[in-house]
Amino acid sequence: MLDLKQDTEAARVKSFMDRKVDVPESGYDRLGSPVASVVVITTMDQEGRVNAAPVATCLRNNHVPTCFEFTMDIKRHTAQNVLATKQFVVNIVPFDRAVLERVHVTAMPFPKGVNELSVAGLTAIPSRVVRAPRIGECRSHFECELEWTKQWFETRLTIVGRVVAASIDRDCIDDKGYVIHEKLMPVQYAGQAYNGKYLGISETMDVAWKWDGPDPKTYYPPTNGQ
Ligand SMILES: Cc1cc2nc3c(=O)[nH]c(=O)nc-3n(C[C@H](O)[C@H](O)[C@H](O)COP(=O)(O)O)c2cc1C
Repeated sequence: MLDLKQDTEAARVKSFMDRKVDVPESGYDRLGSPVASVVVITTMDQEGRVNAAPVATCLRNNHVPTCFEFTMDIKRHTAQNVLATKQFVVNIVPFDRAVLERVHVTAMPFPKGVNELSVAGLTAIPSRVVRAPRIGECRSHFECELEWTKQWFETRLTIVGRVVAASIDRDCIDDKGYVIHEKLMPVQYAGQAYNGKYLGISETMDVAWKWDGPDPKTYYPPTNGQ
């Protein structure tokens, strides 16, 4: 078990890198589950300085090609860095108190250029394709290249990126590429702004497809004679 307080940065990077497995493009969509949870977006500015910020509006918004979107104020460093470098990483945050306490630190309004991962004691590990790092303590990662942005409600910027690499802790994925939700345990937004309350959901259920009627494409329900 990794000790976040005791281990050196180099030991943490190596330990986290050893845990990660790359997922082929055909598996990106399977990894995108649940489709929305609390994430930390990592970016780099044009000078190569790392930035990190938690986001509760992040959503996998297309199956294939797999894309993610999130919305931020255009003045935020994350938004500025994405506009400048056209890349970002979606790091799925686990339902883990020690990690969430560090994630809170990344949300604080540090000046531009401050590496919130270092300040928070989170571990930056190299990404596979993009320049911004992954976060070792997060269990799955989507490296994205910018597809489009839309500025709306005056200062809000919605950012959509296409996944160009995905990776996950090997104990969180089965041999078919499906997420093992009980292991991934992604944290959910609890609908209480940013007051520190979070929701953990890991229960899954298999539900049968039941339909005894005719081909639904040609089926129109009875209209009671009207
Ligand atoms: C759990 C959590 C979720 C957040 N989600 C969002 C979000 O979806 N959109 C947003 O604009 N800010 C969100 N924030 C606030 C930003 O993370 C915060 O403004 C941060 O300082 C922005 O950092 P930056 O300027 O380095 O990009 C969230 C904060 C927390 C703690």
